[in-house]
Amino acid sequence: MSDAATEVDDLKAKAAETAIDLVKPGMKLGLGTGSTAFHFVEAVGGLVRNGLEVLCVPTSEATRAHAEKLRIPLSSLDETPQLDLTVDGADEMDDQLRLIKGGGGALLREKIVATASDRMVVIADGSKVSKTLGSHPLPVEVVRFGLRATMRLIEALSAEAGCEGEIRLRPGKGDLPFITDQGNLIVDCAFNNISEPEVLAFALKRVPGVVEHGLFLGLADLAFVATSGGIKTMRRAGE
Ligand code: 5RP
Repeated sequence: MSDAATEVDDLKAKAAETAIDLVKPGMKLGLGTGSTAFHFVEAVGGLVRNGLEVLCVPTSEATRAHAEKLRIPLSSLDETPQLDLTVDGADEMDDQLRLIKGGGGALLREKIVATASDRMVVIADGSKVSKTLGSHPLPVEVVRFGLRATMRLIEALSAEAGCEGEIRLRPGKGDLPFITDQGNLIVDCAFNNISEPEVLAFALKRVPGVVEHGLFLGLADLAFVATSGGIKTMRRAGE
């Protein structure tokens, strides 16, 4: 890892360590996905090793494998349909705690788990905070059937919602597309400026081939953002 990457990773770890204070005995937790959530899972693993009793639902197969390695007790939303707290990273967030997620391809399970939680807390380094969402391409999970037609409709309805930019099928290994844990595809939409996320979210939901999009609106309650100056706590209005 370069010095700069190590510095950012340290910030991610600090954000995760701050969120660990919210974890209490007996809690049912959603475990996020990605390099920031990785640190949170590690920290939960440390607490479990020291005897803390929690039950966790992972948001991806990668997080499940990590948590299993740490012997964190796991459950599913079928067995445990309501969670106390989900802690997850984000690709981008604004000051209203509206998020872009799905850079790691786990947006569908992440959104289902966050929605099933009483609280969603975001952990991030300062580079993730933007005035206006869109500098990170918006991931949209789509079914394979009718892919080209779906992409055309995403383009048309997004343009009506004021968002234009390249819409690209996410590549996977070799010549294959990236496949999500649910067996779907991801298209990444480089809109650059999503001035009305709610309008875009509504438009994307009108596309039949769209399973879910990476706009998380009204889901995150609290964020811990780590910068070289310390941890900034951000709250959604009304929280
Ligand atoms: C995965 C996600 C991640 O939370 C997001 O990509 C942030 O990842 P990282 O913490 O590695 O920057 O949405 O689908």
